[in-house]
Amino acid sequence: MDDFDRFVNDLQREIDERTHALYSDKVLAEVRNPRNMSRMDAPDAYASVRGPCGDTMEMYLRLDGERIIEATFTTDGCGPTVASGSKLTTMVRGMSLAEADALTPDDLLAALDGLPAEHVHCAVLAVDTLHQALANQHP
Ligand code: FES
Repeated sequence: MDDFDRFVNDLQREIDERTHALYSDKVLAEVRNPRNMSRMDAPDAYASVRGPCGDTMEMYLRLDGERIIEATFTTDGCGPTVASGSKLTTMVRGMSLAEADALTPDDLLAALDGLPAEHVHCAVLAVDTLHQALANQHP
């Protein structure tokens, strides 16, 4: 291994250590392998919300009566937003509309084992988008 390779390896290790110090294992797992990150054809409910940072999340819901049977999302936001959308769309699957509407950013943050303070708004964006979608059902 030459000096340059060693330098790159050391740098990568340092980045990995810092990333692990900032983010929980659950957040990192969602970012590395996001679930439900796609558009949905003909959703029963949909919303697009722009957060205070300027990033946008879209959420799509498939309903069976009063129950969510499928939820997907897209975002142009940061990794914590991807983790938030992935975790939230997984959580709401099978919930009643009332249960999903009662979810709070704190519920999502607890499910992710937290986010750094400067990224709490990313979880808020995901929950806001869910609530907007629930308010925006197509009859
Ligand atoms: Fe914009 Fe996370 S959603 S920084």
